[in-house]
Amino acid sequence: MNYKIAVLAGDGIGPEVMDEAIKVLKTLESKSDISFSFEEGLVGGSAWQVTKSHLPKETIKICENSQAILFGSVGGPIEEADHPKWSGCEINSILALRKHFNFFINIRPLKLFKSLNDHCILKESLIRKGFDILCLRELSEGIYFGKKETKEIDGQRVAFDQMFYTEGTIEKIAHRAFEIARTRKKKVTSVDKANVLECGKLWREVVTRVSKEYPECTLEHLLVDNASMQLILRPSEFDVLLCPNMFGDILSDEVSVFTGSLGMLASASINKEGFGLYEPPGGSAYDLAGLNVANPIGQILSAALMLKISFGLDKEHDRIVNAVEEVLSIQYRTGDIYTSTSSCKEVSTEEMGDAICKLLK
Ligand code: IPM
Ligand code: MG
Repeated sequence: MNYKIAVLAGDGIGPEVMDEAIKVLKTLESKSDISFSFEEGLVGGSAWQVTKSHLPKETIKICENSQAILFGSVGGPIEEADHPKWSGCEINSILALRKHFNFFINIRPLKLFKSLNDHCILKESLIRKGFDILCLRELSEGIYFGKKETKEIDGQRVAFDQMFYTEGTIEKIAHRAFEIARTRKKKVTSVDKANVLECGKLWREVVTRVSKEYPECTLEHLLVDNASMQLILRPSEFDVLLCPNMFGDILSDEVSVFTGSLGMLASASINKEGFGLYEPPGGSAYDLAGLNVANPIGQILSAALMLKISFGLDKEHDRIVNAVEEVLSIQYRTGDIYTSTSSCKEVSTEEMGDAICKLLK
């Protein structure tokens, strides 16, 4: 069976970590009867450099002709944010892709690999309890996609970002959250700001209504400020974390640190037809770009998610996750998960990828 994958490596560390993910997929290919065809597309600042567009039409075409999109990262150094190469880059590329393909749900698994216990910043008693949180982030509405403008009022500029939520959108992701929770620990924690925001009130009302159809699951509501605290205090008590767009962006970065590093984080963005884009949400990390030091595990685990969710290749997904587990257990560490006090071996991006390929069974 052949699977067609659009590869959009993008900017910063994107191309480096993408190389390792492709290497892993090719190794898998050589050890099974599955085959992949990769078609590369330009995106972000690196696309602008060539085409003066952050998301060329050609790239959209490549994505439309593929069965899944493997995405790296986009965006440039903060000091150059006003340069046309980078100005609006994320909005024009990754947000435009989310909109174009109607990706409404973003899935971010947050789990602590046992071998990284010693690198986890949580206190011992919490680490012992462990955690396995599935962050479901609404991806198509909220403040990201509302009307934006900056205008002059009374002699000074005022910036506006409208936040909006449609009942049907909340309903759709809430159903998905409970369907997934049913296969896990049967608990949904829904995050909002219902004490202040209209969007929060509607979010809470709709999620509560949907929950009635899933009596086997428990529902907990948390205000986002409280949620950010509870996640640190009692991570083991969370199962499915259901978040509006911006809150999911923020809280998933917070929890990713408990897993060792933001560089470990993988994600899947899915639309109603089941088409998906898979990306490590850690960003382009310009300070690390070109140095062969970035952690490729988030990108590799994103590729694994693609195999499972888009292609139904559960076994192959598990093979990659097991290889990652093993590489960590033999103490291979990129800089972000390296602890000098233990017997860790500090490795480069490439060495990490090679080691994972070698451990693929
Ligand atoms: C993420 C990223 C993006 C987001 C940026 C790059 C626009 O932070 O996927 O978490 O905010 O959604
Ligand atoms: Mg983010």
